[in-house]
Amino acid sequence: MTDYKELVDAASAAVGNATDLAALGALQAQFLGKKAAINAAKKQLGALDPDQRATAGKAINEARQQIEAVFSDRRDSLEQAARLVQLEAERLDLTEVWPRPARGHAHLVTQARDRLEDVFVAMGFTVAEGPEVESAWYNFEALNIPDWHPARGSFDTIFVNLGEPEEVMLRSHTSPVQVRTMESQEPPIYIVAPGRTFRTDAADATHLPAFNQIEGLVIDKGITMGDLAGTIDEFVRTFFGEEVKTRLRPSYFPFTEPSAEFDISRDDGSWLELGGCGMVHPNVLRNCGIDPEIWQGFAFGFGIDRLAVMRYQLDDIRELVNNDVRFLRQF
Ligand code: PHE
Repeated sequence: MTDYKELVDAASAAVGNATDLAALGALQAQFLGKKAAINAAKKQLGALDPDQRATAGKAINEARQQIEAVFSDRRDSLEQAARLVQLEAERLDLTEVWPRPARGHAHLVTQARDRLEDVFVAMGFTVAEGPEVESAWYNFEALNIPDWHPARGSFDTIFVNLGEPEEVMLRSHTSPVQVRTMESQEPPIYIVAPGRTFRTDAADATHLPAFNQIEGLVIDKGITMGDLAGTIDEFVRTFFGEEVKTRLRPSYFPFTEPSAEFDISRDDGSWLELGGCGMVHPNVLRNCGIDPEIWQGFAFGFGIDRLAVMRYQLDDIRELVNNDVRFLRQF
């Protein structure tokens, strides 16, 4: 009777060295296949005495089961290792998603305009609009600036090559919206009109040829300069902060009488000019079909871009139109 322990040990040593399933398959043919020693031993059983045959057969079967167990253990661990390799190779690291594309946000000037609208809407104003291309009537004449008036020159108007010379233009201020509103609405009127305005100015650190203004107009009964001062003060404190003060300085505009410029206080005690204002001139009211004996009002206007420059202490107003995202992203 052969000792099968050697055979089992040989199989187990060989199997322990098999590093992949292909190598294991080759060994399996060698140790368990048709030509394997264990099967050859089985074939010889016939030559033995019946009692020896039973013992030898049992020993062969046990050895065979042990060899099979060696193979199946090794197969299990090699399969598991192969699965780990595959899992690692096919792994999707869900924590490694690309940052989402930035959503962007409203431009600094748009934000300022929106906030201004909010402040005035909260004070009971509504928002009005007018066209960017205007006629001389709306931009000048109805506003008490006839064509001989020297103030026309001070607006540095960009004319459009349409109709009579100097009759069609890019509006040089938002004041034409005053006229359009008074023509189309019955008083009382409480509106603000933000929008783009244009002048022949060359772009420099403090000027843009295309800029934004916001116009305010109030027409009601018994309106005084005090209402104007109070409105400006209220808006400035809401927009800039409670500590910021305002003052009016006498000035001149053809469409307001009296006229003023309004300033806001700065931390260092100095004053910064923000815009123009005044009581709506009776001629303007009459030009718009409103009786100045019954209705009075005030108007104001200032640059939104300039306001943004002041609020964020920008060095150069041209930053607002350079479209450099590194700049814009900061606000
Ligand atoms: N339209 C004037 C300007 O652009 C500002 C202004 C508006 C002044 C309303 C008085 C009243 O300079």
